[in-house]
Amino acid sequence: MLKKSQSSKRTVRKNVMKIAIIGGGHVGSALAKGLSRAGHTVLVGARNPESPAIKSLVQDFQNITAHPINEAAEKAEVLIITTPPAAILNLALQLEKVNEKIIIDATNSVFNKPSHYQNGSKALRELTGFGHVVKCFNSTGFENMENPRYGKIAIDMFTAGNSDRGKQIASQLARDIGFAECYDFGGDEQIPLLEQLAIIQKAGRDIAFKILQR
Ligand SMILES: NC(=O)c1ccc[n+]([C@@H]2O[C@H](COP(=O)([O-])OP(=O)(O)OC[C@H]3O[C@@H](n4cnc5c(N)ncnc54)[C@H](OP(=O)(O)O)[C@@H]3O)[C@@H](O)[C@H]2O)c1
Repeated sequence: MLKKSQSSKRTVRKNVMKIAIIGGGHVGSALAKGLSRAGHTVLVGARNPESPAIKSLVQDFQNITAHPINEAAEKAEVLIITTPPAAILNLALQLEKVNEKIIIDATNSVFNKPSHYQNGSKALRELTGFGHVVKCFNSTGFENMENPRYGKIAIDMFTAGNSDRGKQIASQLARDIGFAECYDFGGDEQIPLLEQLAIIQKAGRDIAFKILQR
């Protein structure tokens, strides 16, 4: 059954987190800006932290800094992966050296699998051995992450994975950047279903999911 995330109320957040966003493209930038505006400390982990794209992302936000990937991962409590799925194979080798952390996998591998792994979360878990790997932020376009409001309505986000702690953090971050609710799809076995939701993008970019209840 689709469940609301554990703390469904939008509370006044006192829990400011250090979040490493690995990859600074469309999704990475949208999440970095949203999380920074919500007061979190954002460390963008990039292959080239000095690139013009990363510099322009960092320059307008005091609480966004750019780092080599392993440095960002080491300093943060939570990692959000926003690279192409195939990059995870190499990334996982760099993450092996950091202590176990919460990893939020925002990649979509419906059309582009990380080698023989079914999806990025499975690859991350098996390659790093980390237990708190969850899927979130994969099911909607980056435009919706930049602005989750359609007029007066805030859209919903979804998460899945075996780590309740991971899903709790992912849900909190989704609400922090303006999603109305983050629904829990279930355990790891539901991740492929969550990835299929991304296919809605074929219907256009400015389109989003909202759960209605009578
Ligand atoms: N676009 C969307 O609306 C959307 C929505 C939901 C989920 N997603 C998923 O989110 C992920 C990123 O999508 P995107 O649209 O943000 O892509 P993008 O704009 O192309 O950005 C990809 C980022 O990943 C980095 N990267 C690529 N290969 C890498 C590697 N081997 N190691 C480290 N970093 C690497 C790139 O850095 P460089 O500058 O160094 O190349 C770039 O910063 C994909 O998995 C996609 O399926 C996308």
